[in-house]
Amino acid sequence: MSAYTLRWGIIATGKISGQFAKDLLVDPSTREVSDVAHKITAVGSRSTESAQKFIDGLKNAGKGDAWSWGVENGVLDQVKAHGTYDGVYQDSNVDAIYVGTPHNLHFQNTKDALLAGKHVLCEKPFTIDIEELEELVTIAKEKNLFLMEAVWTRFHPIAYAVDEVLKSGKLGKPKRFAADFSMEYDLDSKPDSNRFIDPALGGGSLLDMGPYPSVWAMLLVHRNPHNKDKNPKVVSSYQSIYKRSGVDLNSRWIVEWDGLCHGQLLTDLSSAGLQEATAVLQCSEGDLIIEYPPYKPETFHIVPRPARDLGAIKEKTTHHVPVHSGNHGMSYEADEVARCIRDGKTESDRMPWEESKVVQRWLDDVRKNGPSSTKDMKGNAGQ
Ligand SMILES: NC(=O)c1ccc[n+]([C@@H]2O[C@H](COP(=O)([O-])OP(=O)(O)OC[C@H]3O[C@@H](n4cnc5c(N)ncnc54)[C@H](OP(=O)(O)O)[C@@H]3O)[C@@H](O)[C@H]2O)c1
Repeated sequence: MSAYTLRWGIIATGKISGQFAKDLLVDPSTREVSDVAHKITAVGSRSTESAQKFIDGLKNAGKGDAWSWGVENGVLDQVKAHGTYDGVYQDSNVDAIYVGTPHNLHFQNTKDALLAGKHVLCEKPFTIDIEELEELVTIAKEKNLFLMEAVWTRFHPIAYAVDEVLKSGKLGKPKRFAADFSMEYDLDSKPDSNRFIDPALGGGSLLDMGPYPSVWAMLLVHRNPHNKDKNPKVVSSYQSIYKRSGVDLNSRWIVEWDGLCHGQLLTDLSSAGLQEATAVLQCSEGDLIIEYPPYKPETFHIVPRPARDLGAIKEKTTHHVPVHSGNHGMSYEADEVARCIRDGKTESDRMPWEESKVVQRWLDDVRKNGPSSTKDMKGNAGQ
């Protein structure tokens, strides 16, 4: 069977778009994929020069760069530079759009792309609020188009390895959960226009980093075979403030899965995270601990409970499950998009709309009940 090739249009030429594009250029066989492949057929920026510069940067891959494979094997052969995002939405050589703009633009860019008849993979956080997300899902349904939030971590080999542990039942029932994404970002050295600092761009730790403790909450607790609560809610939250612009420096919140357990989630721009425990699921028979960083962990441990409460797990085991060499880790979500579109699906079973909505409601809840300058930020749904 020959591979199905998805033709991508990339919107915006910032940091993460560059990383995503490079992963599209890596040889799929390096990650044992042969059923789908990728082409980049268009790049859109606010100027043609910057779109062209982005393409030239990709074409100038060095011999040792894993993405030089794509340059040499035709992945960029038909690529066109557009000086507007709309040019990419209208490009007949594009099947799917990758949206890599700042948070506050995700809704409008995704909406415009869907209305132009394109499938969309949109960076996290999906939208500014749940109303925006509901509208995007409605449009995708009406137009029978694929739509997914780019939570790349869900598709990493370690995420599937952890699923197997949970499915085996050996950990028993979840009793408690905690996850943290923290880093020392040095906000003071950055300009007011930095997207972590500017409230108008959805600045602060919550919207940018919140999807990462959430990804483990969703994979370890929400999708756990023991969970029956489809709409777990935030029961308490706290934010501290970065005074210069009023955005949240850190956010903490507690989620309760009714009838199962609660979880503490944390994002922080002022402190480093814990290397050996970025996410912890405590269960009746033993605990599962995932190492930092939460967006791309490569090691997890299964650990016995303390002696006085010992369960069936009697020995610590360590499991190293890295992404395949040469892949940064975004190629896996791109493969998922290609497979879903090939199969005529509008959403991914691995990253379904309902689960994006659960997390979006948590982020809304923490933001709207906190003291930050993004508290009253409204999305553009209905406009
Ligand atoms: N999945 C991940 O691991 C990951 C990692 C980092 C970021 N992200 C997400 O990706 C999105 C972009 O992050 P990034 O780090 O790539 O940001 P970035 O480097 O600042 O790039 C954003 C790009 O958006 C475009 N843009 C359009 N309007 C803009 C405006 N008013 N101000 C600034 N840029 C504007 C620009 O591209 P043009 O000039 O070409 O139009 C810019 O280069 C964010 O939502 C973030 O949460 C995801």
